[in-house]
Amino acid sequence: MRVLIVGSGGREHALAWALHSRGGATLFCTPGNPGIATVADCIPCDISDTGAVVAAAEHLSTDLVMIGPEAPLAAGLVDALSARGLRAFGPTRAASELEASKVFMKTLCARYEIPTAPFRVFDDGEAAAAYVRRAARPLAVKADGLCAGKGVVVAGSADEGVAAVETLMLRRRFGDAGARIVVEEVLPGRELSVFAVTDGVDLVPLIAARDYKRLGDGDRGPNTGGMGAVAPAPGVPDGVLDRIVDEILAPALWAMAQEGRTYRGVLFAGVMLAPDGPRVLEFNVRFGDPEAQALLPLLETSLLEIADAVLAGHVSRLALRWRAETAVCVALCAAGYPDRPRAGDVIERLDAAPGDDRTLVFHAGTAVRDGRLVTAGGRVLNVVGTGGSVGEARSRAYGMAARIDFAGKTLRRDIGIGWHPVMTETAQAVEEVSR
Ligand code: AMP
Ligand code: GLY
Repeated sequence: MRVLIVGSGGREHALAWALHSRGGATLFCTPGNPGIATVADCIPCDISDTGAVVAAAEHLSTDLVMIGPEAPLAAGLVDALSARGLRAFGPTRAASELEASKVFMKTLCARYEIPTAPFRVFDDGEAAAAYVRRAARPLAVKADGLCAGKGVVVAGSADEGVAAVETLMLRRRFGDAGARIVVEEVLPGRELSVFAVTDGVDLVPLIAARDYKRLGDGDRGPNTGGMGAVAPAPGVPDGVLDRIVDEILAPALWAMAQEGRTYRGVLFAGVMLAPDGPRVLEFNVRFGDPEAQALLPLLETSLLEIADAVLAGHVSRLALRWRAETAVCVALCAAGYPDRPRAGDVIERLDAAPGDDRTLVFHAGTAVRDGRLVTAGGRVLNVVGTGGSVGEARSRAYGMAARIDFAGKTLRRDIGIGWHPVMTETAQAVEEVSR
C-alpha cells in the first residue's frame, strides 16, 4: 500500500507513525516535517493548491490519501482526488461545510434538533454589536468561516463581545470568514473531544479525549491550538459517550445524508458536558490536533483497515481494538507562543528518547537548518507517554519533556490532571448571570 499523508503538524506525524507501525504502508507525506521524514518520503508542495496535491498523488501512484487538516478538505481535495479515481480518506467539500461554516453547522443543528447552544446569526456588524451590547451577558462570538482556530471569542462581558464583533466583522481580521457571525450563549461545563469513523451511514466512536486549550495551568491565559491532550478523558460519567453518539453524532450523520452531503471519514464533535446534558460546540471534519497524538498510540487497529471500512461502506463490521492504557500528550511550544512564536532556537537532546513505544515524540513546528534541528512554529514538539494510569503516562511524557531542551520551551504542567471544573473568569460570570 502506498499512502500519501497531507499536512505537516504533530497530528500528521502521529498518523504517519501509526501507519508505519501498524500496517506497514509505504509512506509519503506532503509537505511533512523533519520528524515525519524518519518514516515517510516528504514531498514539498503547497497543500492549498488542490491541483498540485492531486498531481503528486497521481505521480506517486498512491492507493490512499489521508488528509490531516481541514483547509484542503474544505477546498475540495477529496472531490478532486476522487474525480481522478484516487482513493481518499475524508469528507467531500460539501460535507466539510460542517466545519467550514459555523452558520451551516448551527442551522443544521437547529433544523434537526441536535443539542447545541442557543444562537443568532448576523450579517450586519452594527446589528450584531447592538445585540451583544443589549444582551449584557457573556456570549460566544464566532466568525462563520475557517480562521485557523482563532475565530471564536468567548466574551466575559458585553464590551469584550462588542470588541470581538468589531475585530471579526467590521475590521475583517480573517477576511470574508467574518462576513457572517454566530453569537451564542456561553455554556458552563467541561469539554470533551469525541471522534467517530463513519461511512455516512454507520459509525464507530473512538475513545473520548480531552484537549487543554489555554496556555496556562488551570486553564488560564490565551487560547491556543492546544497545549496537550489526554485519552481516555478522565472523569466522564458512565453513559455520556453513548448519549453523545445517540443525541449528537448519529443525528448529525443522518442530517448530512438528508441534505445530500453524505459524510465519510472522521467526524469530531467538540462537546460541552453542560448541566442539562451534552451540547455540541463545534463539528470538525478531521482528527483533532493534539487529540490524535494521544489517541493513535492507543489504537491497535490499523488505519488502513479503518480507511478500507469507511471507503467500502463496511463500518458496521469494524471493531476497533485499543490498548487498555492512558495516553498523555504534552505540547512543547516556542517562546512567545501563541501570539508571536520565535523561530530558530536549536533543539537539543531529542535523541535521548527511550525508544520504546510508551514514550513517543511527534514533530510539529520543527525544521533542519545548517544540519541542526530548530524551532519553526508555535507548537514545536508533542511528547506522548502511555501507561497503565494517568500518573504513569504523565511521568513518561513529562520525563521526556524535561530532557528535550530549547531556549524558551513553554509547556503546561497539568495535562491529564487539570480536568476538574476550573473557575475561569468567564465561567464565573456565567454562573453569576444564571443565578
Ligand atoms: P469552537 O471552535 O466553536 O469549538 O470554539 C472554540 C472554543 O471556544 C471551544 O472549544 C470552547 O472552549 C469555547 N466555546 C465555544 N463556544 C462556546 C460556548 N457556547 N460556551 C462555552 N465555551 C465555548
Ligand atoms: N484540538 C482541537 C482541534 O483540533 O480543532
